[in-house]
Amino acid sequence: MEESKKTLYSAVQPTNCLTIGNYIGAIKNWVNLQNDYNCFYAIANMHAITVRQNPADLRRNTLALLALYIACGVDPEKCTLYLQSHVPAHAELCWVLNSYTYVGEMERMTQFKDKSAKHADNINMGLMDYPVLMAADILLYRADVVPVGLDQRQHLEIARDIAQRFNNAYSPTFTVPEGVYMKVGAKINDLLDPTKKMSKSAENANGSVFLSDDRDAVMRKFKRAVTDSDAQIKYDPENKPGVSNLLTIYSVFAGKTVEQAEKEFAGVGYGEFKLAVGEAVADRLAPLQAEQARLLADKAYLDGVLKKGAESAARTANRTLAKVYKKIGFYQI
Ligand code: TYM
Repeated sequence: MEESKKTLYSAVQPTNCLTIGNYIGAIKNWVNLQNDYNCFYAIANMHAITVRQNPADLRRNTLALLALYIACGVDPEKCTLYLQSHVPAHAELCWVLNSYTYVGEMERMTQFKDKSAKHADNINMGLMDYPVLMAADILLYRADVVPVGLDQRQHLEIARDIAQRFNNAYSPTFTVPEGVYMKVGAKINDLLDPTKKMSKSAENANGSVFLSDDRDAVMRKFKRAVTDSDAQIKYDPENKPGVSNLLTIYSVFAGKTVEQAEKEFAGVGYGEFKLAVGEAVADRLAPLQAEQARLLADKAYLDGVLKKGAESAARTANRTLAKVYKKIGFYQI
């Protein structure tokens, strides 16, 4: 680990299949940042069980997500890639931080309220405690920056509050992390309801483009994407949420700015525009999927990455945890 570099932390849950929102809002940026920071990228399987998971699927999705990280260009030689449950310090620090977090704060979290409404039959303690575990993730590594999509902003703010509260109660222990949100793509919206975030678990899967979708599925979804009646390809999220969302997706997948994309499609009809967006996405997903499949066939390699990652992560995490235990008065031998 290079001492002069700042530390970066981020994670994704291995639930369902990832969407192009997860790719644009998170993983794609990880690749750009890996040279400039000491990066810790986790697979958040402990967060995943806060809603019911099929064990076999969870196991499969874990390796699939690791293979995807690497297929996207996250380099295990440069970054620490690991599975959250392989580092017990996450659960241990979460327990400590629980005593420095108020129930009222957790009840106010929008994601908790949304997920409680969606899973009314399973409003479990883990679901409520989710942001505290996320704070533990980040604070264990003394992360300076945390690149995430906008839907995680509230969780990041609470992690900062918890860090500051602990530092004030004892002495500076945790680095107070900064959230990093991309200017373009921090919130990719649903293709059928472009005022809503594109989600892995949307009710209508036609509004979400999954990273595992084949070309036919991608094209079909973009063809059906909601636009508006004004027939102008302009970036105006307030008045033209559908078109603006498509422009954002296109710009990221085609490697252009939104302004360049606007110019390119000036005077073009919506039908043709939607096909072009679909093509740009499908062209990128095909090699990504092929590389992911190639990596998934080499389980020994993936296990090796996880083993090395867990050892490296645990070294840093255990140092922070030991400091915390000492400060709060846990007797050490
Ligand atoms: P998760 O798995 O829901 O999402 C992973 C990442 O994708 C981003 N994202 C989006 N970005 C743009 N547009 C969208 N439609 C979209 N949907 C999702 C998310 O903001 C996130 O960056 N709790 C986290 C995982 C986590 C974590 C952490 C993140 C656990 N511990 C510590 C950072 C630091 C989560 O559920 O992300």
